[in-house]
Amino acid sequence: MAEAKKYMSDIHLEDYTEQYEGKRATADSYIFTEGRKRESLNGKWNYAVDQYDTCIRQKWYLERYVDEKGFTLPLDYSFDEWPLMDIPCCFNVKDQKYLLYEGSMIFTRRFKYESEGDEEVILRIGAANYLMRVFINGEYAGLHRGGSTPAFFDITDMLKEDNRIIIQADSARRTTQVPAENTDWFNYGGIYRDVELIRVPKIHIRDFRVFLVPDGTYSRIKAEAELSGNVDAVACFSVPGLGIEKEMEIKEGKGSCIVECTPQLWTPEEPRLYDVKLTCRGDSVSDRVGFRQISVEGRQILLNGRPIFLRGISCHEESVTNGRALTREERTENLKLAKELGCNFMRLAHYPHHEETARLADEIGILLWEEIPVYWAIRFGREETYKDAENQLTELIKRDFNRASVIIWSVGNENADTDERLTFMKGLADRAHDLDGTRMVSAACLVDAQENRIADRLSDSLDIIGINEYCGWYTPDFSKLPELMSNSDPDKPVIITEFGADALAGLHGTPDDKGTEECQADVYGKQIEALSGIEYIKGMTPWIFYDFRCPRRTSSIQGYYNRKGLLSEDKKYRKPAFYILQKFYNDPDGSAG
Ligand code: GCU
Repeated sequence: MAEAKKYMSDIHLEDYTEQYEGKRATADSYIFTEGRKRESLNGKWNYAVDQYDTCIRQKWYLERYVDEKGFTLPLDYSFDEWPLMDIPCCFNVKDQKYLLYEGSMIFTRRFKYESEGDEEVILRIGAANYLMRVFINGEYAGLHRGGSTPAFFDITDMLKEDNRIIIQADSARRTTQVPAENTDWFNYGGIYRDVELIRVPKIHIRDFRVFLVPDGTYSRIKAEAELSGNVDAVACFSVPGLGIEKEMEIKEGKGSCIVECTPQLWTPEEPRLYDVKLTCRGDSVSDRVGFRQISVEGRQILLNGRPIFLRGISCHEESVTNGRALTREERTENLKLAKELGCNFMRLAHYPHHEETARLADEIGILLWEEIPVYWAIRFGREETYKDAENQLTELIKRDFNRASVIIWSVGNENADTDERLTFMKGLADRAHDLDGTRMVSAACLVDAQENRIADRLSDSLDIIGINEYCGWYTPDFSKLPELMSNSDPDKPVIITEFGADALAGLHGTPDDKGTEECQADVYGKQIEALSGIEYIKGMTPWIFYDFRCPRRTSSIQGYYNRKGLLSEDKKYRKPAFYILQKFYNDPDGSAG
């Protein structure tokens, strides 16, 4: 059809985003970065709220100041005059006027670059919620979808001595995304994890995986390497703490080696880590790795061959001050508080938390459940949505593969057991098993409410069944819980991934008064009593460690917070239920012992 004579692309083009779909950062763009020199682009960035996506409609990134006849154009942006924001951050909590803003923000800064020889330059963005489009010196570097996993862009050929980077970060919720538009947590926006440049040789180490061979001998470690090119080479794998220095043959860009040794096994009580290193063709990467084996046998969960009860707690990635962009101190505080609660396990709900959390858990000794946000109602019948979910899962597994603390990949939470959902999530569970034969795969499933039993069809694809049940709260009749337990006969271990009750810190009443500390404590006491001793229950992660922001929670005791925390949102106040759970976890004779 001939274009209308008065057609103007930036105001008449209906699907202005289509032109940006062809270039994407996905899990295939991933590069292993531990042990590499990283040049930070964190700091002051100019920014503007771009509610109507004018930047990508009008192509501001071209910085076209005059038209073809040389006339100066009227401009709707002035990058260097925009206000400044410290990146990374969640803009919602940095300026009250942005608290409830959802949509695009444009971030830009200048930076200098000087080549150091025959190298590639990778831009790594730890996370931006939900999607981001990146431009370097007017060129489009690509798009990344997924609000909690890193994005990698090869910007080698775009760089000059003086550069401008522009990132459009769009936090809008959409039914086609993962998660969709309805969740029970706050939709923080912005570039909220580190932005850095990483220089690598043209042929470099793209991935490096080190793990204990899960064969029950606890005496063989395996290293796997993938290079960025299909070349033959010889790499060197070393673990000084085990006196290992071993050549690894690389054929067509891939290689591996197995070494007989007897590492001190990693456990939450003794989280022994080893420095590991891989060098190849002048490139070098390193990591700190713990060697352990997680497995299931019948209805038992085994850590290094020994039965373990996962004494856990669920948590969102959030602080009052920083939203999702926690500081290292805040992450460390959360893990130490979990240890004080008596935990050996945490459920990082409902999306990938910062990679630093798993690193700290490796050091402190906390096992982890990590999860992708396939949450509630997702467009399970939509292929692009499946690809988005699978990509986020793959990015998470690539990012955290070497973390001893991570023992479970969760493919979702509380999804209705429909045929479309079963196909979608079986695909994800199979993908997780294909990518990682060393960990368990699970999901937080719903109870079959009609028959009051554990019967989610997804269970057949899982190693461990997660179950969310709210007897005493959303299901007021507590007798449903012992009935659920006796009605069910799972063929594999079950973790109760959620139970709980709201309680406003300091609000008192009777156990029947919903929202009081006494009611929450009563629910915890009855839950623990009913769950104790159930042979197939091998762990729990009650909901939730601390109160968290939630736009769906508007009652007077909630005040736009979900108040099921054992701690207040600032983690300073401990509700009585904290001590009830702590007593259960610290009881050596109890079923959590
Ligand atoms: C659900 C859901 C949580 C939610 C919780 C609640 O089970 O998984 O994300 O916050 O229940 O209702 O508090």
